[in-house]
Amino acid sequence: MRIGLDLIEIPRIERALAREGFRERVFTDAERAYCESRPNPAQHYAARFAGKEAIGKALGCGVEWRWREVEIAGRPKPGVRLSGWTRSWADRVKAGTIDLSMTHSRELAAAICVVTDTVLDVG
Ligand SMILES: CC(C)(COP(=O)(O)OP(=O)(O)OC[C@H]1O[C@@H](n2cnc3c(N)ncnc32)[C@H](O)[C@@H]1OP(=O)(O)O)[C@@H](O)C(=O)NCCC(=O)NCCS
Repeated sequence: MRIGLDLIEIPRIERALAREGFRERVFTDAERAYCESRPNPAQHYAARFAGKEAIGKALGCGVEWRWREVEIAGRPKPGVRLSGWTRSWADRVKAGTIDLSMTHSRELAAAICVVTDTVLDVG
């Protein structure tokens, strides 16, 4: 089992969201649709940003430049879907189930990720 943890200041994400192209480069359509539907989108964007970092740490790979290959979507508890190179990496390191929990307050957002090892079917 492997874990990853990340904490981020929401104003930092707010500033990034003001930059042209940031939201599209980092977040998938489903992530943007959810965050934009909330009264304070930055809190949810920040939680997902922390979530992607936490998943990258638990998997032992970087998520920078591959943000959208880690999708955090679904309600009420968001699930994690990997694609592309990050999916291949997870298979290569024999990652099993990926579980993520996120939280956010006015100033901070945090996420913790637990990745189980693949259970080999020896039957
Ligand atoms: C789940 C709950 C505790 C969230 O608490 P909160 O103080 O409102 O919010 P937090 O900032 O700590 O966490 C919010 C995040 O929790 C996650 N979350 C929401 N509902 C969840 C659920 N049922 N299970 C797991 N995670 C959940 C989401 O990721 C959410 O962030 P998002 O909207 O950006 O996706 C609250 O909504 C609640 O009491 N719900 C009803 C009871 C429940 O489902 N409890 C959890 C299972 S026992």
